[in-house]
Amino acid sequence: MRRSSAVPLLALAQLGCGTPAAPGRQSAVPPPPPMSLPMPVFSPQRGMAAAEQNARCERCHQEIAAEWRSSLHHHSYTEPSYQRALAIEPLPFCRSCHAPEANPDRDAPETLARLGVGCVSCHLSEGRVLGAPHAPSSAAPAPHGVVFEARFASPAACASCHEFTFPDGVLRDRPLLMQSTWSEHTRSPFAAAACAQCHMPRVGGHRSHAFAVSSNPTMVKSAVKVSAERLDARRVRIVLQPLAVGHAFPTGDLFRRLQVLAEAVGPDLGRVAMSERFLTRHFVVERRRSVALRRLEHDDRVGLHGSEPSVVELDLGDEARGHAIAWRVAYQRVDHPLAIDSEDALVDAEIEIASGVFGTAP
Ligand code: HEC
Ligand code: HEC
Ligand code: HEC
Ligand code: HEC
Ligand code: HEC
Repeated sequence: MRRSSAVPLLALAQLGCGTPAAPGRQSAVPPPPPMSLPMPVFSPQRGMAAAEQNARCERCHQEIAAEWRSSLHHHSYTEPSYQRALAIEPLPFCRSCHAPEANPDRDAPETLARLGVGCVSCHLSEGRVLGAPHAPSSAAPAPHGVVFEARFASPAACASCHEFTFPDGVLRDRPLLMQSTWSEHTRSPFAAAACAQCHMPRVGGHRSHAFAVSSNPTMVKSAVKVSAERLDARRVRIVLQPLAVGHAFPTGDLFRRLQVLAEAVGPDLGRVAMSERFLTRHFVVERRRSVALRRLEHDDRVGLHGSEPSVVELDLGDEARGHAIAWRVAYQRVDHPLAIDSEDALVDAEIEIASGVFGTAP
């Protein structure tokens, strides 16, 4: 049952014909009564109609559409590292979120695989367009109904896809979170800031839909301030102070880590000694009823305890005496399925955050 006079989305094909404007805008008809629509869910499964509706959104909202087409939301199913991971674990569970408009029980048809997380996945709720409330603007009224919901301007708009448990809950005493960005955010010093405040900055009069993190070294580097000191002949101390990051760093997928590395360099520039640590969620794999279960052993990501800095001391041993020590901190994406914190895991991509060299002192 439709609860107001707003145009059902399928009718957008015939737009342009005197449809009611959004509440808070100039309008000949009274605004619809307040209502509460469900927030975006990870698996709406609307099928091919979703792709057709999405194409309509794109035609009218061209700048936003161009940003979205550059985003990992749009590439969430076709992106190569996801495809490699899916080939190892081809679960309906994975498809339900990475191609949310398709039936997860089989490979997504090409059209819905290419759509990924679409405009419709976030904005359509019970056939209505969700918007975030804001002060009346001079922009043209929308030629379609918009339901302005305060929750859509809050982390609730992101929660169902950015916080979820491993699909093997029945085998565990308690379900384990596979991604926990939402709850990390509720405990962070930025709990009062919406995800959109950092991830959808205003550009050219609208909110950016590029959601760029991994392709945006400036943003990744803005998460932390790094300082280093050589304590003595063999040890360096590296301090990572979290800055404007609204959750742990790194957050999101399992296969993210911060590498903290120091190496002593000989006169011929060869490595004389080395020490390395990975800040990440460290899992151990347990066999239960012939299934491999990940158990979280410890979590030493940056920013887990408010604004408290993470301190890493690396001891390079006596071999380092009398040599220069080079150090670095890098954000790395590691390929599935190797252990996240092992030295020989394959690094898919990395962003160096800070580095430096101490001379041959002490
Ligand atoms: C990942 C979820 C997501 C996707 C995908 C998405 N949006 Fe949005 N969009 C939002 C959220 C959340 C807001 C409200 C942000 C705020 O103001 O708090 C928004 C805001 C908007 C606005 C108002 C922006 C402004 O400030 O003028 C428009 C218009 C819009 N989206 C259209 C689209 C279109 C068209 C697409 C696809 C090309 C799209 N969105 C894809 C989540 C999404
Ligand atoms: C026929 C053109 C047209 C189509 C199709 C269309 N829109 Fe719009 N939409 C507009 C115009 C014009 C506005 C008002 C000006 C603005 O905010 O961009 C608007 C406003 C909005 C707003 C409210 C912006 C705000 O915060 O004030 C959202 C959200 C939105 N559209 C999302 C969508 C989504 C999602 C789709 C596809 C399901 C879609 N639109 C399809 C033309 C269109
Ligand atoms: C329908 C599910 C869904 C919703 C709703 C959703 N996301 Fe996502 N998001 C995804 C998926 C899936 C990916 C992973 C794409 C990939 O890398 O394969 C992703 C990736 C991202 C990334 C990573 C980009 C990068 O460069 O690493 C950011 C940032 C992000 N989302 C922010 C948000 C924010 C903020 C919201 C709420 C306004 C939101 N998302 C809502 C499903 C969703
Ligand atoms: C105060 C600003 C801020 C807020 C609020 C914030 N983020 Fe972030 N986010 C960042 C920064 C900075 C990064 C880059 C460092 C990192 O990867 O953690 C980031 C990275 C991410 C990534 C990329 C992870 C990766 O490594 O690919 C995702 C996904 C994400 N944020 C989702 C969210 C969601 C969902 C919310 C709300 C629950 C949120 N963020 C709130 C600043 C913020
Ligand atoms: C409920 C939603 C959801 C489910 C279910 C889900 N993912 Fe994701 N996935 C995400 C989000 C959100 C991100 C983005 C966070 C980030 O970039 O760190 C992501 C990121 C990824 C990435 C990193 C992609 C990149 O761009 O580097 C891979 C790989 C991945 N997922 C594989 C899987 C596999 C395999 C499964 C099934 C075992 C799965 N996902 C299940 C939401 C989901």
